[in-house]
Amino acid sequence: MKITLSFATVIACVLDISSVLVVAQPWAATNATPPVAQLAPAKPVVAPPVQPPQSLGQLPDGILAFDATTKEYTTKSGEMEAKFAFSVTNISSNEVVISGVQTSCGCTVAHLTYPWKLQPSESGVIPLTMNLMGKFGVVFKSATVVTDKGQKMLTVKTTITPPETNQRTMGDDREKNRLIATADRQAVFKGDCAKCHVEPVIGQVGKVLYDKACGICHEATPRATMVTDLHNLKTVPNSEYWKFSIVNGKPGTLMPAFAQTQGGPLSDAQIASLVDYLVKDFPASKTNAPAVHPH
Ligand code: HEC
Ligand code: HEC
Repeated sequence: MKITLSFATVIACVLDISSVLVVAQPWAATNATPPVAQLAPAKPVVAPPVQPPQSLGQLPDGILAFDATTKEYTTKSGEMEAKFAFSVTNISSNEVVISGVQTSCGCTVAHLTYPWKLQPSESGVIPLTMNLMGKFGVVFKSATVVTDKGQKMLTVKTTITPPETNQRTMGDDREKNRLIATADRQAVFKGDCAKCHVEPVIGQVGKVLYDKACGICHEATPRATMVTDLHNLKTVPNSEYWKFSIVNGKPGTLMPAFAQTQGGPLSDAQIASLVDYLVKDFPASKTNAPAVHPH
């Protein structure tokens, strides 16, 4: 007979999975009590009378059957939570009392009521939610089901898919190029980079020059967060400001120096035409949206 259980309690965050995972196999093999250091933080915080002694150790086989002891999930881009549900059935001929489910930090067991008594052949669900805020890559967490017959550890593994903004057209190249430019902001004008960052610029002036030389970074869709929105500058730009920025770029950032005297691709005449365009015709307020902070 299947029974769906109702939920009502939230469990505190008590164990850190990295340590738990390392010692999990040795406990299983020897059935020994895990080292005190691992269990100390797991001392009962909820309903002490029904908490079984820690010395009960691993739950022996033939008592509770789980649909799985490890579950995996790969998030969709931008998802901030991973949800899991473990089904459990009492396959023994005696009542089993679950007194708590202890989870590693950042993982919560939704609203189970304790003591949770499972009669022989009765089933239920343990719902687990992993909070992914601030996490990336592959994250493991655990939940320890504490019963009067012993403890059972369940693990969940989430593979976090990075947000959409990290997976655009140039993908890996874009990241790699940024690293190269971080080491040398003039690198954009050299080697393979020149194909896109210099060649289209040769012989151009005015608006076309802006589009090819500057727009490639400043009007990119999506524009990288570290690249200033030139339509929403914090200061009102004048010709000195534009000229200074173009000639020198900005040391310590990805903004390169464009003047030939600084190792850039632009002649004095090209720079003059660019400044002229920027001061006179550059649509300085493309949007009414508040300025996007460059960092
Ligand atoms: C195939 C053309 C192409 C090549 C080659 C290229 N870039 Fe770019 N670069 C772009 C485009 C297009 C953008 C605008 C962002 C986007 O759409 O990815 C850009 C943007 C940038 C940015 C601004 C940060 C950003 O992510 O928007 C930097 C820095 C940069 N490139 C450096 C380099 C360096 C260094 C190299 C050589 C190692 C290089 N690029 C080679 C096309 C290229
Ligand atoms: C390789 C990408 C790239 C190209 C090409 C590029 N910029 Fe930039 N630019 C940047 C980045 C990154 C910043 C932000 C610097 C920072 O962190 O403050 C920036 C900042 C600026 C600023 C603000 C400087 C300040 O004082 O804060 C101006 C103005 C500017 N760029 C103008 C231009 C012009 C004009 C061109 C074309 C000649 C151009 N940029 C081409 C990447 C680029």
